[in-house]
Amino acid sequence: MPAISASAPGKVILFGEHAVVYGQPAIAVPISQLRARAIVKAEPRADANQVRVQAPDIGLDADLTSLARDHPLRVAISGVRSALNIDLIPACTVRVSSNIPVSSGLGSSAAVSVAVIRAVTTFLGRPLSEDRVADLAFEVEKIHHGTPSGIDNTVVSFERPVYFELGRPPEALKIARPITIVIADSGIPSPTATTVAEVRRAWQADPTPFERLFGEIGSLVRKARAAIEGGAVDQLGLLMDSNHDLLKDLGVSSEFLDQLTDAARASGALGAKLSGGGRGGNVIGLVAPHLSESVIQSLHTAGAKSTYLTTISPTES
Ligand code: PMV
Repeated sequence: MPAISASAPGKVILFGEHAVVYGQPAIAVPISQLRARAIVKAEPRADANQVRVQAPDIGLDADLTSLARDHPLRVAISGVRSALNIDLIPACTVRVSSNIPVSSGLGSSAAVSVAVIRAVTTFLGRPLSEDRVADLAFEVEKIHHGTPSGIDNTVVSFERPVYFELGRPPEALKIARPITIVIADSGIPSPTATTVAEVRRAWQADPTPFERLFGEIGSLVRKARAAIEGGAVDQLGLLMDSNHDLLKDLGVSSEFLDQLTDAARASGALGAKLSGGGRGGNVIGLVAPHLSESVIQSLHTAGAKSTYLTTISPTES
């Protein structure tokens, strides 16, 4: 049997992180050049039902059953077994690789889960729909994030721009005109679970100002949606700047992330914000394509570890 391969993209959140955990909408887009891949190969000579998992990037080469019960790969593969109602998986090797920086708000954990779930279900001859893959990946996200909204696993599984609100089916976002963004990785790993938990504690201690901030972020996301769907890309810059300010008020920015967003704006970005959990991770800048090189240079000079240029292409729906 030939090896089965599946992949899934990274993502960035354009607007609405953190507030989305509290029921506000958010907008996320896939980043197709950053990908996680899983390859499943049958091992007819191995012991029956022995599943070996390999992730050379992190030095992992182990039997699935030797991993902790809450190891993300074990949870992903057990989720597949329960979803398909099967007890045992025929002997195989599941090999995982990814060029998505980890703990950077670029969706690496969701992309690995989605790639593994797709590859294993296809290997078993029972591929699942995008929304069922997203649901299974959500179970893994709970380990990484504590109380995830579900936006990461959704955008990564659907691989198209989404307007996401907790408890509602994700909506495909219409992109009327191309949107070019520079993504800069601060190189500072920042587990999303930490900032999400901090915001939760702060909200519990003093709900009113936090609920006001969540509401302001939500109304800004609705404006961003109208601008994106109406082709008014120039309006998005100011909205990004405002979103960054509100994230600062939530307490999830840092001096370095502020320096990076300032550097992006000073070199020509129309707007910039942190993206994802914050504190470390990445910032994004909206750029006119002819200024992208200058913004990239300036972000590197300001200390960004790596940058990615991506254009979100127009969609039909
Ligand atoms: O995975 P990250 O760092 O892009 O963060 C996800 C966005 C949050 O809103 C901070 C958390 C969530 O689950 O929505």
